[in-house]
Amino acid sequence: MIHTGRHFLQIPGPTNVPDRVLRAMDRPVIDHRGPEFARLGMEVLAGLRPIFQTQGAVVVYSSSGSGAWEAAIVNTLSSGDRVLMFETGHFSNLWRDIAIRMGMQVEYVPGNWRRGVSPAEVEARLGEDKGHAIQAVMVVHNETSTGVTSRIAEIRRSMDNAHHPALLMVDTISSLASMDYRHDEWGVDVTVGGSQKGLMLPPGLSFHAISEKALLANKRAKLPRYYWDWQEMLKPNRAGFFPYTPATNLMYGLREALIMLNEEGLTNVFRRHARHGEATRSAAKAWGLELVCEDPREYSNTLTALFVPNGHDADRLREIILKNFDMSLGTGLSKLAGKAFRIGHLGHFNDLMLAGTLSGVEMGLRLAGIPHNPGGVMAGLNSLVSHERELAPA
Ligand SMILES: Cc1ncc(COP(=O)(O)O)c(C=O)c1O
Repeated sequence: MIHTGRHFLQIPGPTNVPDRVLRAMDRPVIDHRGPEFARLGMEVLAGLRPIFQTQGAVVVYSSSGSGAWEAAIVNTLSSGDRVLMFETGHFSNLWRDIAIRMGMQVEYVPGNWRRGVSPAEVEARLGEDKGHAIQAVMVVHNETSTGVTSRIAEIRRSMDNAHHPALLMVDTISSLASMDYRHDEWGVDVTVGGSQKGLMLPPGLSFHAISEKALLANKRAKLPRYYWDWQEMLKPNRAGFFPYTPATNLMYGLREALIMLNEEGLTNVFRRHARHGEATRSAAKAWGLELVCEDPREYSNTLTALFVPNGHDADRLREIILKNFDMSLGTGLSKLAGKAFRIGHLGHFNDLMLAGTLSGVEMGLRLAGIPHNPGGVMAGLNSLVSHERELAPA
């Protein structure tokens, strides 16, 4: 089938890359040891801090998010250390797997893939650890496989209530630059980010925001590391350089994406994602499809995961939508395969793109013969215009 117009990439990352970012990357590669690169490096490293809401160090790796997961562990921990992790879904499972391979003793609190990390559970587990054997609490902020957002500020409070000194490490790969996230205020020690979602870049860069406490832990941590080593990275970073060849053209793109985020203003970026999350959930409710997320306090503003009714196949629905309307939706991952699909509404995105996305889903539901109530699109549109909006000047 021949498709015309633009493909709708509505998976929860990688997201649509703005033309401005694409153009910014379409430039000759420069000497990464020369003065022009130093300026780019300084600009980007400084510009990333407000995105994490930190005054501290931020590092940029040339890797996908999984690299930064591993880097968080090897920079702060030693073989045999105990860490506390929570089963929120596919991505918490993967981070746990890395921790196990790195020789951590992982205390993995089971979950039903429909809820975030329970702050009460954090407090209880840390309270039992009188000898402070647990070295780190590791949490996925926005579980991309389920559309559930854990409440990091509350988790921090629980750690403080338990008077426990463990590091707090948070994966913000599908929340950074889309949902409010405060590295410093929430007392996070290592925040892990990626380029391909809220930052509107192609895949290929990952990030850490690092607290002073994490830098101290780094001095004691004994796991072997070279490529990921903060000390190797932070030294040349002071002058805008990298210890090895950086992904120069992605850095050009990052500089432009940061300019775009500043033009819009982070608060407006968060508000826009909140509106789109709410409109999508209104559509789901009108269709009569069940959200994977059980707790309204934990609804994700960057993606919505929906169950299809029993006896129906979510991947068949996605296939029909791709074939007929040229729209990619997120598949159900591991134990949600076939049972759920995910609508990404993050990054370079607007009201009419959401309207198109919801239309594609509703037409797909009809073509796939999946029982639903019509009117989800209208509910989504009503939600979008029911919010107080600044009207553009005539
Ligand atoms: C929450 C979360 N963590 C980690 C990852 C892994 O990142 P990557 O696929 O870039 O290695 C992803 C990828 O989608 C993610 O959504």
